[in-house]
Amino acid sequence: MGSSADEVREHLLVDVDGAASGAGKKAKIRVQNLTKLSEATGEEILNKVCLDVPEGVIMGVIGPSGSGKSTLLRALNRLWEPAPETVFLEGDDICRLDVLALRRKVGMLFQLPAMFEGTVADNIRFGPQLRGKKLPESEVQKLLSLADLDPSLASKPASQLSVGQAQRVALARTLANEPEVLLLDEPTSALDPISTQNIEEVLVRLKKSRGLTALMVSHSVKQIQRIADVVCLLVGGEVVEVLDPSNLSEAKHPMARRFLELS
Ligand SMILES: Nc1ncnc2c1ncn2[C@@H]1O[C@H](COP(=O)(O)OP(=O)(O)OP(=O)(O)O)[C@@H](O)[C@H]1O
Ligand SMILES: [Mg+2]
Repeated sequence: MGSSADEVREHLLVDVDGAASGAGKKAKIRVQNLTKLSEATGEEILNKVCLDVPEGVIMGVIGPSGSGKSTLLRALNRLWEPAPETVFLEGDDICRLDVLALRRKVGMLFQLPAMFEGTVADNIRFGPQLRGKKLPESEVQKLLSLADLDPSLASKPASQLSVGQAQRVALARTLANEPEVLLLDEPTSALDPISTQNIEEVLVRLKKSRGLTALMVSHSVKQIQRIADVVCLLVGGEVVEVLDPSNLSEAKHPMARRFLELS
């Protein structure tokens, strides 16, 4: 909240030396010359990606299939190991952080929720339990409400949920770790419109109430326009544009324009 899209965009553009253009607003995540080569072909999947994600902002990540969106997101909590000094969380090189601590701070939600065995409450307690903490019933209920779910679901076997409910339980399970950043890789593409709306509302609410920072990959330009503060357009492993979601027609890159059906 609080930043106009223009202001945010200004802080997202990183020059070749890696210094963010503009001054003032802190980058929650900074990506600096991040490259990934395909192990199979040696081709660049990501090519010197530079990007600042300001704190408390929902950044939409869009681009054609195969452009590297998931690969970019997965680097940010070390689902693959980026080179040192290429990804920073509040200025700290993530390669130097304890990987489990990093993943608590930078949570991830995928396209399809994978429920663990047991009840909804068991699923929500999973993260804290790994750290030897048992979440009290009241906390479980709070997390369910936060994810727009009825607290009475707590005792239900997770295997009996609809996909839309399971995705919200997966969100509550991630939120139990009190993340500062959420990485969302097409989190609603398997959901019906109502469940999609529920997830979108939760994300916007978390941003407003907790200053949560989020990066969300979506194939829906409309969805991005509904909830993102700023849009990063990835084409061929490169960030080609950073745009205001209400002004996507300003996109200049030819592939970007084609993707956005502007020309
Ligand atoms: N582990 C891997 N090994 C080799 N190539 C990979 C690997 N992961 C991804 N790729 C390749 O990297 C490119 C980018 O893939 P990625 O999944 O990041 O794209 P994406 O933008 O998320 O696509 P989509 O919109 O279809 O989900 C693709 O060409 C893909 O084939
Ligand atoms: Mg993907």
